[in-house]
This record gives sequence, structure tokens and C-alpha cells, in this order.
Amino acid sequence: MADHDSNSNSLLENQTPNPDGNSASENESDASIDSLARQVQESLSLAKRHKFWETQPVGQFKDLGDSSLPEGPIEPPTPLSEVKQEPYNLPNLYEWITCDMETTEMCTEVYNLLSNNYVEDDDNMFRFNYSKEFLHWALRPPGHYKSWHIGVRVKSSKKLVAFITGVPARLRVRDSIVQMAEINFLCVHKKLRSKRLAPVMIKEVTRRVHLENIWQAAYTAGVVLPTPISTCQYWHRSLNPKKLIDVGFSRLGARMTMSRTIKLYKLPESTVTPGFRKMELHDVPAVTRLLRNYLLQFLVAPDLDENDVEHWLLPKEDVVDSFLVESPETHEITDFCSFYTLPSSILGHPSHSILKAAYSYYNVSTKTPLLQLMNDALIMAKHKDYDVFNALDVMQNDSFLKELKFGPGDGKLHYYLYNYRIKHVLRPSELGLVLL
Ligand SMILES: CC(C)(COP(=O)(O)OP(=O)(O)OC[C@H]1O[C@@H](n2cnc3c(N)ncnc32)[C@H](O)[C@@H]1OP(=O)(O)O)[C@@H](O)C(=O)NCCC(=O)NCCS
Repeated sequence: MADHDSNSNSLLENQTPNPDGNSASENESDASIDSLARQVQESLSLAKRHKFWETQPVGQFKDLGDSSLPEGPIEPPTPLSEVKQEPYNLPNLYEWITCDMETTEMCTEVYNLLSNNYVEDDDNMFRFNYSKEFLHWALRPPGHYKSWHIGVRVKSSKKLVAFITGVPARLRVRDSIVQMAEINFLCVHKKLRSKRLAPVMIKEVTRRVHLENIWQAAYTAGVVLPTPISTCQYWHRSLNPKKLIDVGFSRLGARMTMSRTIKLYKLPESTVTPGFRKMELHDVPAVTRLLRNYLLQFLVAPDLDENDVEHWLLPKEDVVDSFLVESPETHEITDFCSFYTLPSSILGHPSHSILKAAYSYYNVSTKTPLLQLMNDALIMAKHKDYDVFNALDVMQNDSFLKELKFGPGDGKLHYYLYNYRIKHVLRPSELGLVLL
């Protein structure tokens, strides 16, 4: 049986980019063994029982391919008076808390829990290290609810041992705008794993979301649960190949030397697109128009207004970076690119402790070719000393990944909706959504 504790973390998997390393036949047989292994693993996880998820209003594996089921909410909302008013029961030694993420003390406690216990790769070489500033940003968008930032403490010592969060978001699914919660940062302390605490955390956040009269949610995970609306892949672009190889994030390609590898990934000193500059506050209306229009082409995408854009996309040092192209002639804003900062701790390495990673966020090209725009984003990330630039194969990303020397990661990221059925599994390119 697959063990859900071994988080197959698609976000951190070692990359084995293949600049001009392995021969084609070696690659093909590697790829077919990989894909066979994946198919076996996937069919095993499909056969697996999900004692908790089978009880929830989510797409069930047995219904896969049943196109008679309607698209949309799986269960209707219940009257608010019928939503359970008291929190779910926790084992006696523990208590619920609502985390006030406005205080540095609370941000520090959450930071400590996550930096020691959150997502690791399969080989336990890297662990996500979301910064306090990032958490403060990620959990306080316009209209956020404090009650959706949920912690569990040990009653006696007050130690924080589990966490889960939601933030409100409007998502568009085809033509419907749906109020949702984006659920993130589910974490149970390593010493409390496999005790069925996660289902209680999920039920409690669901209850608190229902109390706000919201009945749908979106989330991602590296593990297969009932049932992904889409399965995406991370790709990695080396910016500091020497460090990535030193720390075991990537390997030297066959018949490659370090100096050839460094040369292969070298980027120009400065960006090439005329009018390329950092986004500023006064750009919010233009960026909102550009992004809203662009996201219309995807089946599932956020419905962002100016307040959302100001919060999620206005640059914030070491949290989110955004750039745009302002036409030197017309001063029109024609293109946009952005990435967020999510370092990982490097576990047990003698000389390196942090891997500085940029994650592609929302990008829009109307005049500048996407390839050139993203190359400028890479140049900016390199300039800011990131070691690696990661991107999912969502939206139109597939069109630049190979050409800009991204290599595929070996894990997957699955996207899920709670209490919303989608008839067909979506291709990553039909998804216009990036969750942090
Ligand atoms: C994810 C985590 C909280 C799960 O806790 P756990 O102690 O391993 O598992 P529990 O015994 O409490 O609960 C198991 C149930 O939670 C479900 N579950 C596990 N990981 C999950 C996830 N990421 N999202 C939703 N449900 C999840 C399991 O599928 C299982 O339900 P099922 O029987 O219906 O399949 C814990 O492993 C952890 O903190 N991991 C590191 C951080 C992490 O990976 N977070 C999730 C990021 S998406």
C-alpha cells in the first residue's frame, strides 16, 4: 500500500535535465520505465480505499468517466443554522486555536512548525521553508477570515503541533463564478503522524468555511486522493547549476562537465525586452485588465479584481516579484510575468542550508513572445540570486519549458475541488490557477 506519509513531493523532486547528456535511446527506455512505474503506482492508489475521502463530497474514483453525472456542486448548501456550531472533537490532550497571523509571535510559531514538519521530497533531502513574510502575505488576502487559520496545540505545553488554513477566492469554472476556499498548509507534527488527525483538521476547516456560507474549495497535493481535476508536473530551470548539483537537487548530465553545464545555463546580464520593468502600484488597473482578459481562455481560473491583483501581484520583497512590459511608444501595458519565492531547507548538507527557488506565478503575453518574456523573468531571477526557477505545465507554460532549458521533475502535483464535480479530467493547459 502506498504510504501517504512519504509525501511524493513533486515540488522538490530531483531534476535530471537532459541538456545534451543521455542518448535518445537511453532516455526513451528510462522514460518508459518511469511511466510504467508511474502507471503501476497510480493504479495501486486508485485501488486503495480512502476511508475519509470516500465520505466527502468529492469526485469518487468509481465515478471516473461517468458522464451522466452533472457538472457543478455535488451537494447543495445546507441552511446555516444546520452547520455544526461547535468544533470537532480532538483527542483530549489537544486543543483548537485560531491563529492570529497579524502578530509576529504567531507567525513565528507557525513558521517553526512548518519549517520543521512541512513537505519534504521523497528522499528527505529538502523541506519547504515558507518565510514568515510569505505566510503573512499568503494568509491575509482581501476578505480573509481569521477563523480559517487553524492550529492545534498540546494543552499542557501549548506547543503548536498541527495547522491548516483557508483563504477566500472566487474561481471561475467554465462560465460559473464560484466562491471558494483555497485550502493550504495542512501540516501535522512528525511525531503525531498516522493518527487520523488530518481528517479532523480538514473537517474543522470545512465547518468554518461553511459558517461563512461558502461550500466549495480548491487545493493541491502531491498525493493521489479522490479525485484530481487535473494532474500537473513541475519543471525546473537551473540558475545556479553548480550549487544544485552540489546539494543533490540535480545531477551532472552524462558526458557533461561542470563547466559545460554552467555555460549551458548561463543567462544574459540584463533583460532584452524594451519597456520591461517592475510592476508598481499605479499599474494595478492595467494589470488587472490584462490578466482578467488572459485568464478567460482557461477552464478553471481565479476571478481577480483590482484588490486581489494589488494583494497577490504587487511586488513584495522576497515574497512575490512581478514585471511588466510598458510599450515605449504607447505606454500601454502589454505583457506581464511574476514569480513567488519559496526557499527549501537543504537537510544535512555540510555547506549549504537553503535552496533559493522562484516559482512561476501568473504570466501574460500579448505583444512580447512568451518565450522572450519568460527568458527575461529568468534573467531577473538569476540577477536576484535564485538557484532555480520552477514552473508547472499549466496555462501556456508548455510552450517555453523545453526551449528555455527547464527539465521535468519526477513527481506530480494534483489539483482538487471540494464539492464541485468536473465532468472530464482537465489537461494542465486548461488550468489557469496557481496555488501557493
Ligand atoms: C499531510 C499530513 C498532514 C497528513 O497527516 P498524516 O498523519 O500523515 O495522516 P492522518 O493519519 O492524519 O490522515 C490520513 C488521511 O489524510 C489524508 N491525507 C493525507 N495527506 C493529505 C493531503 N495532503 N491532503 C488531503 N488529505 C490528505 C489521507 O489520504 C488519509 O485519508 P484517506 O484514508 O481517506 O485516504 C502529514 O503527513 C504532514 O504534515 N505531511 C507533511 C506536510 C504535507 O505534506 N502537507 C500536505 C501538503 S499538500
